[in-house]
Amino acid sequence: MSDAAWKIALSDLDYGREEEEAVLAVLRSKWLTMGAVTKKFEEEFAAAIGVKHAIAVTNGTDALMLSYLALGIAPGDEIIQPAVNFVASANMTLHIGARPVFADICSLEDPTIDPAEIEKAITSKTRAVVVMHYGGASCRMPEIQEICSKYNLALIEDACHGVGGSGYGRKMGAWGDAAAFSFFSNKNLAVGEGGMITTDRDDLAEILRGLRSHGMTTLTWDRHRGHASTYDVTLNGLNARIDEIRSALGREQLKKLQRNNEKRRALAREYHRLIDSTSLASQGWIFPELGASGNDSSHHLMVAVAPDAETRTAAMARLKSAGIQTSIHYPFIPDFTAFREMVSREARENLAKSEAFCARELTLPLHPLLDSGDTSTVITALAKV
Ligand SMILES: Cc1ncc(COP(=O)(O)O)c(C=O)c1O
Repeated sequence: MSDAAWKIALSDLDYGREEEEAVLAVLRSKWLTMGAVTKKFEEEFAAAIGVKHAIAVTNGTDALMLSYLALGIAPGDEIIQPAVNFVASANMTLHIGARPVFADICSLEDPTIDPAEIEKAITSKTRAVVVMHYGGASCRMPEIQEICSKYNLALIEDACHGVGGSGYGRKMGAWGDAAAFSFFSNKNLAVGEGGMITTDRDDLAEILRGLRSHGMTTLTWDRHRGHASTYDVTLNGLNARIDEIRSALGREQLKKLQRNNEKRRALAREYHRLIDSTSLASQGWIFPELGASGNDSSHHLMVAVAPDAETRTAAMARLKSAGIQTSIHYPFIPDFTAFREMVSREARENLAKSEAFCARELTLPLHPLLDSGDTSTVITALAKV
């Protein structure tokens, strides 16, 4: 079945006239590279998360890598992180010459990194911990923050799923030394390709701004406005700048974020209500209520955990034949060719819950344009597996 033929797609964009007008305004201004629109987007994003600084970048992957670099993580250092994650965090760890050390998740019901497993994984080489707010539900941040301060480790949030959500009384992205967001097309705040780094630390924000743009002390925008005529290079930076079109889209999407996250929450509740009227749970299916424990999830994903891997395959095929798109978040990182030899057998054995979760997880459609008829179609099809 081709993408276009899905009756119920996994995700969809809430785009309208506002986004079109915002892009047209940028085009008409003839200023396309990072400038005034990006600055506004950064200010508004920082206010939404409740942090001092937001630094817009090309994508979530660069947001992670720049955070590692800004925190001074160096070749030979170890970064503890979850194996139930998109591969970007581990890839960027290796890219800077550091080593990813995977720690297991709490449970199949709470697939976020387990604080006790983080503590067990600490060695003399550990420099940082990356947490990932899986599906939009906060990791156990108070405990994790305490461990990081006890062992003097940097804390980085991969908040790509968590935009607009909170946990333990604080927005995701406002806990770590730095946090990385992605604005990829399937995210709660989508611009195609884009990202943001948030931090409360002035020193880090300054380094991050430098690293984002070749380590240069002024931008083309500053020189265009006559605020500067030359520049120094104080860091060996990259070009990870966002552009004005994406920032304009980001500003419009940010205005819709809270409303759309609430729609996601209502749909997730509807899913769970429908599930309760089936026998799926008694057949061994698990439906983690991401954010159910008083946390304010961003409900990025609607997650089902099949009784076993074979049932997941059968369920994906069944839903596909009914025109319903599903996905897997995520394949188990130590199984990837580029990682296979790097994770010892003993280390894999310590990741039993992560491995089981990755083998059985199935993501159902969830986005603000769905309605309760769609959730009913999905659960009816799933109940027939
Ligand atoms: C959890 C997580 N981390 C990192 C990324 C990387 O973000 P990007 O695709 O914007 O580079 C993504 C997005 O795909 C993600 O979902």
